[in-house]
Amino acid sequence: MLSIFDEEFARDPWQVLRSLRDGGGAHRVATPDGPPAWLVTRYSDVREGLLDARLSTNLRYSAGADYRGFAVPEPLDVFQRSDLDELARLRGRVTGQLRRAGEWSGQAGKLMRERLAELDGAGDFDFVEQVALPLPALILGELLGLPDVERDALARWAAATLRPEAAPRARDTLATMAEIVEAVIAHGRAGSADTMLGRLVRDESHGPAADSGELPGLLFYLLFVWYEVLMDVLAGAVLTLSGRPDQLAAVRTAAESAAPVDELLRFLSPQVLAGPRFAVTDLVIGGKTVAAGETVLLCLAAANHDPERFADPGVLDLARTPNPHVALGHGAHACVGAGLLRPVLGAVLAELYGHWPGLHATVAEREVRWRSGFRHRGPLRLPVHPGATS
Ligand code: HEM
Repeated sequence: MLSIFDEEFARDPWQVLRSLRDGGGAHRVATPDGPPAWLVTRYSDVREGLLDARLSTNLRYSAGADYRGFAVPEPLDVFQRSDLDELARLRGRVTGQLRRAGEWSGQAGKLMRERLAELDGAGDFDFVEQVALPLPALILGELLGLPDVERDALARWAAATLRPEAAPRARDTLATMAEIVEAVIAHGRAGSADTMLGRLVRDESHGPAADSGELPGLLFYLLFVWYEVLMDVLAGAVLTLSGRPDQLAAVRTAAESAAPVDELLRFLSPQVLAGPRFAVTDLVIGGKTVAAGETVLLCLAAANHDPERFADPGVLDLARTPNPHVALGHGAHACVGAGLLRPVLGAVLAELYGHWPGLHATVAEREVRWRSGFRHRGPLRLPVHPGATS
């Protein structure tokens, strides 16, 4: 059985994924946790798989012998366990609120500007430690209107789980995450109605908020899952752009155009795999028969670099259009935060390169160590030289 998920894979997954794509549509692989799963690598199969109702995110369809992912406790798992019509209702409730993009991106850009001003004149520094790691806590704290105690809890969680010397993996901190989510909701109920959190907690327009569980589920993604991918995509973008000065003019337009953000998402694919899918019935995918109850891992990173769909997939082209990448998933479970993260990421990147046009990594790309979280990937440290302030 193939065993591919190690730190070297996180640093450079592309060669391994290319040979898997070339060698067939689906492969049995060992997961770091032990149990095997099917890994699907071609764009057409991954996209079809994301749309296939016979592949469910609901753990109740797992026969148990294959990889099952980690069990997110109720009610944080609401997006995985809901049936499709209930899922559509849950998603409808949150997307309206999350689309207040102007508000989010303006504030996120301002927070980035303030953080960069604090670092001016500090010389070279570790971009992960000084910017990518603290920024999501600043953004989330401000946008959700969190009091200091919850901002600190979030920053402490990130420092404990996402730094190079971190002991637990994010999945081992579920109890802490659940406590923070609970405290944040309590604060939202008691606090101002005029924050994103206040509006999310009070919005009853698509059904009762408190009982149906979507709020804890959404906050779980917003506070923790997004934390990690935002950090990964920021640090990954700086590393990638360091070797590509021809792309810097384009990234400075990221606040006005979605193309640079989409291409960075495609190129980096910070979420390597979609969440595990369990076969509801026997089915054929990538030419292989998957038995009911087995686990299918749809590899978003491999699909995003499939030359059958993307011309020169290994080339970063921030003007690439169309760009039908699957870095945010596709279909019924596609990322609910897409309308929020594009403008926020665009504003933050435009601010970064507007402030420090000459920002670049001071180590070669191959020397950077990556966090090998199996489902996510991002640089662990990134020494940079900020260059002159514009
Ligand atoms: C760079 C940032 C992000 C990336 C790369 C990302 C990626 C993804 C991907 C690939 C999926 C689909 C997973 C699958 O099919 O198994 C997903 C789902 C999801 N994302 Fe994001 N995401 C990001 C930010 C966010 C934000 C900011 C939010 C919340 C505001 C969010 C909320 C969700 C939720 C709730 C789902 C589950 C949707 C469902 O199952 O119906 N994400 N995300």
